[in-house]
Amino acid sequence: MKKILVIGSGGREHAIAWRLRKEGSTVYATPGNDGMFSDGILNPKIDSENFDKVIEFTAQENIVLVVIGPEKPLCEGLADRLRAVGRNVIGPSAKASQLESSKSYAKEMMKSCGIPTAEYAAFSNYDQAINYVKSVDHKIVIKADGLAGGKGVVLPDTREEAIELLNLFMNESSFGKASKTVVIEERLYGPELSFMCLTDGEFVISLPTSRDHKRLKNNDQGPNTGGMGAITPSPDENKSTKQWVCEKVLRPLFAGLKRADISYRGFLYVGLMLTEEGPKVLEFNVRLGDPETQALMLALRENFTEHLFRTAEGRLNKDHTLSAGKAACVVMAAKNYAEGAIEKGALITGIGQEESKIFYSAVQRKENQWHTNGGRVLSVCADGESSVKRCLEDAKKIDWKGVQYRTDFEQI
Ligand code: AMP
Ligand code: GLY
Repeated sequence: MKKILVIGSGGREHAIAWRLRKEGSTVYATPGNDGMFSDGILNPKIDSENFDKVIEFTAQENIVLVVIGPEKPLCEGLADRLRAVGRNVIGPSAKASQLESSKSYAKEMMKSCGIPTAEYAAFSNYDQAINYVKSVDHKIVIKADGLAGGKGVVLPDTREEAIELLNLFMNESSFGKASKTVVIEERLYGPELSFMCLTDGEFVISLPTSRDHKRLKNNDQGPNTGGMGAITPSPDENKSTKQWVCEKVLRPLFAGLKRADISYRGFLYVGLMLTEEGPKVLEFNVRLGDPETQALMLALRENFTEHLFRTAEGRLNKDHTLSAGKAACVVMAAKNYAEGAIEKGALITGIGQEESKIFYSAVQRKENQWHTNGGRVLSVCADGESSVKRCLEDAKKIDWKGVQYRTDFEQI
């Protein structure tokens, strides 16, 4: 059996590891979580932040593929280190990962490649940022330049609020170094659509589109989160969506990367807003989305492992669209998630009564019981007809003190 190592500990990594195991591989995950380890995924017990240890483990265990889930190790160069010792890796280099680790880099790339996106300006100087905000008459979005765990984007409704937020970001450094530089964008309006693919920087294996639910509460109320649930395919996809992304976003981006002598091998996520003027790119991520992946891994109808190997080994020779059905994912989060100090350690009840698949994000198994161990705790996922309804019925059976989840997903 092929041995695959998945790096990461969230629901996305649980879903990827589950899929690869189901397709016949032996799968390890580090750091992983207790929920994954109760699902047949193996725990190598190594310090995943120590890249030397990760490399050593891949050699000892004859790991034939490493799939890097989250952005942090990618931006810190884990893919580069593994490739330097000859491992097959899904995940781009640190240089290419700047598409996610620096919003100003990503915007410059979009502009220089002619990719449709919101107007913007980047500032490291607070006074200049304030003057800019005072000079524009459209609504704006403020983004921390660096990685902020999906929480570094704010949408102020007034100029006063914008000035206050810029002070928090730039002077009080809400996100440490990450918010010393900010990108200020024109605010766009329209539904959002997530497009993800596997690519070698030339050919594209398109995954099904999906709709994330970024706000904490029903009817898109409350703060932005990492994502409170997803459905696939996106109800906003039309016949030309994927072709549009390939022609207007991916081809120009790949040409731009080539000009900069940057290679790319891994997942690429394109966050789009479908505006009245046409689709515009909100962001690039150099990884799969969480929780979109949880739904996608259930929805796929062809062998995913094979495509990962072909990409990692540089064997792609044509574009391909993965065939898939419908699926949904409902994220259940801890008390105060995205709003304040997260409460950990709450006893989770009701697990085992569900018919849906549970992908775990932050749980701990103690004395034969499940406890919460972070913000997004788990996701309830189902595929096929009425998948949203079935996820919500099962979510109702699971409970802990302060649990929160959205119930307003479009029925697919
Ligand atoms: P990002 O990390 O850049 O995708 O931003 C996170 C979320 O903020 C997006 O999914 C949108 O909901 C929102 N957002 C980002 N940029 C804009 C924009 N220019 N106009 C309106 N909303 C935005
Ligand atoms: N769900 C959006 C993301 O993973 O960035």
